Amino acid sequence: MGMYDPVPLLFTPLTEEGQRERAVNFLEHCKSRRSVREFSTRPVPRGIIETIVKTAATSPSGANKQPWRFVIVDDPGLKRRIRVSAEAEEKESYERRMPASWLADLEELGTDWHKEFLEIAPYLIVVFKEKYRNTDGQIKKNYYVDESVGIACGFLLAAIHNAGLVALTHTPSPMNFLREILRRPQNEVPYLLIPVGYPAVNAVVPSITKKPFSEIMQFNVESAE
Ligand SMILES: Cc1cc2nc3c(=O)[nH]c(=O)nc-3n(C[C@H](O)[C@H](O)[C@H](O)COP(=O)(O)O)c2cc1C
Repeated sequence: MGMYDPVPLLFTPLTEEGQRERAVNFLEHCKSRRSVREFSTRPVPRGIIETIVKTAATSPSGANKQPWRFVIVDDPGLKRRIRVSAEAEEKESYERRMPASWLADLEELGTDWHKEFLEIAPYLIVVFKEKYRNTDGQIKKNYYVDESVGIACGFLLAAIHNAGLVALTHTPSPMNFLREILRRPQNEVPYLLIPVGYPAVNAVVPSITKKPFSEIMQFNVESAE
């Protein structure tokens, strides 16, 4: 068992003005992020993708278990197999598995079972969640796995946007085929499939809005009147 070993916190104080500026600038930056479904084949240096993954790995996690694995795919053969399997599942979902209400919600996004972007984008980052660890035959549980991997994926998406790249948060369902194709062990479950790259020339995105601030925030306890 590890021992508690405190070290001084590295903390850079900002002036209130500096804080305000950084907060507003980050908000404006985040507002310009969009999920992109039309990619260019323009290559991205692998080092940039690795730096983005390292950023995701700085994320907090339950008991610091870091229950994630990021598989970076640029091999055309693997990308093809992933696309073929994803499209087979998505076709089944769109044509038979999804209820009408779900299909209606997807209508405004203009999506269907075709997933060309899985071959066009230069990289796919496939995120796995590690349910438990198997160390020398001993099963050790991870904690708050979904929360931890979800937060790390938030860092990942922010790092992709910060690096001037675009991505799609994709969840073909079910996605166990990713474990088979990428030969990951049984204790890992596919979590997200994220194509990353540059947008296609003249790429379009659905016109959507975010909820008003008043709908997503409560300050203390407000009167019910
Ligand atoms: C957990 C999660 C799963 C998603 N799955 C898909 C998906 O399978 N296919 C897709 O086209 N978009 C998917 N999206 C993208 C959403 O449709 C998109 O984030 C939403 O419409 C808001 O658009 P924006 O990201 O441009 O703000 C997913 C997003 C999240 C967070």
